[in-house]
Amino acid sequence: MTTKTKSAGLWEERARLVSSGSAAYTALVLDRGLGAKVWDVDGKEYLDFAGGIGALNVGHCHPKVVAALREQAGKLLHTSFHVAAYENYLEVCRELIAVAPWKGPKKAILFNSGSEAIENAVKFAKAHTKRKAVISFDNAFHGRTLLCLALDGKYKPLRQGLGPVPPEIYHARYPYAYRPPHGLKAEDLTEYCLSELEKFFLVDCAAEDVAAIVVEPVQGEGGFIVPTPGFLKGLRAVCDKYGIVLIIDEVQTGFGRTGEMFAVEHDGVEPDLLVVAKSLCGGMPLSGVVGRTEIMDSVATGAIGGTYGGNPMSCAAALAVFGIFREQGLVAAARGIGEKVKLRFDGFRDKYAFVGDSRGLGAMRAIELVSDKKTKAPLAPARVKEILHACEDRGLIAIKAGVHDNVIRTLMPLTLSDADLNRGLDILDESLAAFKL
Ligand SMILES: Cc1ncc(COP(=O)(O)O)c(C=O)c1O
Repeated sequence: MTTKTKSAGLWEERARLVSSGSAAYTALVLDRGLGAKVWDVDGKEYLDFAGGIGALNVGHCHPKVVAALREQAGKLLHTSFHVAAYENYLEVCRELIAVAPWKGPKKAILFNSGSEAIENAVKFAKAHTKRKAVISFDNAFHGRTLLCLALDGKYKPLRQGLGPVPPEIYHARYPYAYRPPHGLKAEDLTEYCLSELEKFFLVDCAAEDVAAIVVEPVQGEGGFIVPTPGFLKGLRAVCDKYGIVLIIDEVQTGFGRTGEMFAVEHDGVEPDLLVVAKSLCGGMPLSGVVGRTEIMDSVATGAIGGTYGGNPMSCAAALAVFGIFREQGLVAAARGIGEKVKLRFDGFRDKYAFVGDSRGLGAMRAIELVSDKKTKAPLAPARVKEILHACEDRGLIAIKAGVHDNVIRTLMPLTLSDADLNRGLDILDESLAAFKL
């Protein structure tokens, strides 16, 4: 007789107690984590290449984050920034303003989640421009609140049956070099997408009615799509031409992941509003918007914020994260990790008939799986899951992305050792090798 594991029992409880609306990338029930490793409630060890969906660039339970939280817990848990200011909120704003990649007067504000920060960035843009329309992109992901659903460039399962969503939100085309439209060449995509945008202003919504363009500098949930060269610069020029606010969503790309503190720095593009979350805070909930002062001060006092935004515990953790980035050189570490992963992923593309593409920026890398390299037909999600489960059985947590759910992405902590990186990549290789089309 086989005895049920504690994980299996708790997983049944999960099904009984928790709404089925919550995604389940793995069947794991975790007990603890340290660095790039986690242990489930049955004591099995896993390497974590999901990193809390990109929230753990400093790794699980970084000792400095834990120490900062312990100290803060004895001092002040909560007051609400609306009621009274506190120093570590101001220090996080000071740090964010210092790392935001452009010159000129800036201000910041803190929230709890990426979605909440995106919602508020759009509010700032609308108040500043006194315009109503917003442009986002196909394959985009900005969150699961109603406004974010409207921005998301994936209908199922995000938006289906949950509308109506806020109006006056339009989707433009993001340059997806592996799947260019109308048989275009990748090198023509930047010009095509930017000219489509100009056409959009004639056909769907005049540029002078557009408050903001919201864009991920590398699409995350959409499948780690790196835009073709010049696209982000082109968007900057469009925004300058028409007085549109450029909102850069660095929720997943931010905090070193791509080998720069922020992904826009690769292109030298300056945002008007920069949205941050996830790895800002080492596993605690915190997000923020940093932006040009005249935009950040355009909203009526009291219109923005919430009870918990910029909670003192999260701020204490974020300040520890800023210190860790400086002391451990994590931005440079992302470059080193990225080079190693790229080499292996390019090898997977050459070796396996079902690995159609290897792409990414810095340590934000992915492979896209197909059932046929010529037609690029996406590998069915159930088959992708087989590979991910095989990884899990061998002790690696890896997660999917992509509008077709056929992309495997890496969001490992940037603190992981070479040995762990190689072991994780070996496990993925073994799991791919064991897969039969
Ligand atoms: C680029 C991007 N923006 C926004 C969000 C939403 O963040 P949150 O889940 O914290 O609301 C995510 C989450 O994955 C994201 O990847």
